[in-house]
Amino acid sequence: MRELIEKIMEEGEVLSEHVLKVDRFLNHQVDPQLMKKIGEHFADEFRHERITKVLTLESSGISPALMTAYELNVPLLVARKRKPVTLSENTYKASVYSFTKREETEIFVSQTLLDCEDRVLIIDDFLANGQAALGLTDIVAQAKAHVAGIGIVIEKAFQGGGQLLRSRGYRVVSLARIASLQDGTVKLIEEVMC
Ligand code: G4P
Ligand code: NA
Ligand code: NA
Repeated sequence: MRELIEKIMEEGEVLSEHVLKVDRFLNHQVDPQLMKKIGEHFADEFRHERITKVLTLESSGISPALMTAYELNVPLLVARKRKPVTLSENTYKASVYSFTKREETEIFVSQTLLDCEDRVLIIDDFLANGQAALGLTDIVAQAKAHVAGIGIVIEKAFQGGGQLLRSRGYRVVSLARIASLQDGTVKLIEEVMC
């Protein structure tokens, strides 16, 4: 997606060979116009799948996921990383191991909000090793719902997540694919991969 790639090139900061900081438009400060275009793009890619719900993981997935849900005219469901006191009913639960942070997080979704009739589009901001997305597919499976696709804003293609998810048969659409972050430089794979 051209506008996203321009933003990454202009405002992204390479922190290391593994980490791209995008705090000026995605992870801290958020660019609403860019999020709107991202939402339109994901909606166009997945509209034919008759999506009933968009699912993301708090917190940085929410901005692009909300705009996607808005465009598809379906609810956005946000998996929680801590079980809030209000989430007293039964929950679907998955554990997500982050190789980046070397820690395991449990994620929760209320059983009242996802069921076997749902056709779910998973949206997230980053795809690294794919563990967050995999945890979300686990939750969809527990609900006996269908994963209709996975939309990722920035895929770090040099890590294993995209390959892992595609090998499991999921259609993954990434709006920007990063080939490498070596020498302080963002190298992109420019075309949209499906
Ligand atoms: P994985 O789910 O694909 O296996 O990824 P990983 O464990 O590495 O991701 C852990 C956290 O780090 C996630 O955010 C993810 O979005 C973020 N992340 C991974 N790589 C990058 C990167 O290159 N740049 C930036 N800016 N973030 C990255 P999180 O802990 O779930 O937090 P939140 O920001 O969504 O609240
Ligand atoms: Na993040
Ligand atoms: Na995220």
